[in-house]
Amino acid sequence: MEKVGSIIFLNFLFIICLAAPLMVQSTIENPRENIDQWFQNLPHAKQKLTRLHFYFHDVVLGPHPTVVAVANASHTFTSPTFFGRVNIFDNPLTQGPEPGSKLVGRAQGLYGFTSQEEVSLLMAMNFVFRSWKHNGSSLTVLGRNPVGQLVRELPIVGGTGVFRLARGFVLAKTYFFNASVATVEYNVAALHY
Ligand SMILES: *[C@@H]1O[C@H](CO)[C@@H](O)[C@H](O)[C@H]1NC(C)=O
Ligand SMILES: *[C@@H]1O[C@H](CO)[C@@H](O)[C@H](O)[C@H]1NC(C)=O
Ligand SMILES: *[C@@H]1O[C@H](CO)[C@@H](O)[C@H](O)[C@H]1NC(C)=O
Repeated sequence: MEKVGSIIFLNFLFIICLAAPLMVQSTIENPRENIDQWFQNLPHAKQKLTRLHFYFHDVVLGPHPTVVAVANASHTFTSPTFFGRVNIFDNPLTQGPEPGSKLVGRAQGLYGFTSQEEVSLLMAMNFVFRSWKHNGSSLTVLGRNPVGQLVRELPIVGGTGVFRLARGFVLAKTYFFNASVATVEYNVAALHY
């Protein structure tokens, strides 16, 4: 019992002493009040539709890759669809298709190759915005991405900040790809309050 207590205490110390300074400052000072107020206003809030458009840069090779492979299955290497591989990414989102175009946020998440019949991904990612009035807010996308199809639809399952309780969908369309980079155009439709 004592040991468990001290481990918890050590973890707590770690969070306070080491992790806290690394945490990004949140603008919420009183979480309880924030939630109370948010739900008080909710009955008067109108549902809004926000549409966003940006480009996602998946840099697999080169001097600054934004994707790392974290796991392969033993048969990934013989599978034509890379079945079993899992990649983690932290990809820039830009206003235009060029990599040097204005940065509007990042897509952070992972994708696994989940089909034995075609190259198809299970994607779990957060769009973290750094621009517009959505700075600091995020949208969470979870869905199936059969990358060979012209346009793929993935659900938005939630969000934070201005996107609290969001739902919606994204349409992903490959704009450019070669062996080292894939640029994907995203059209986003999110309903939120
Ligand atoms: C998985 O395979 C890829 C491609 O061969 C390789 O780059 C990567 O390092 C491997 N990752 C792991 C965790 O085995
Ligand atoms: C977004 O928010 C961050 C942190 O609060 C701030 O440093 C940055 O200047 C903001 N960017 C824009 C474009 O408003
Ligand atoms: C892929 O395209 C990018 C952008 O045009 C280029 O910088 C890169 O060298 C290309 N990579 C390969 C392997 O052709």
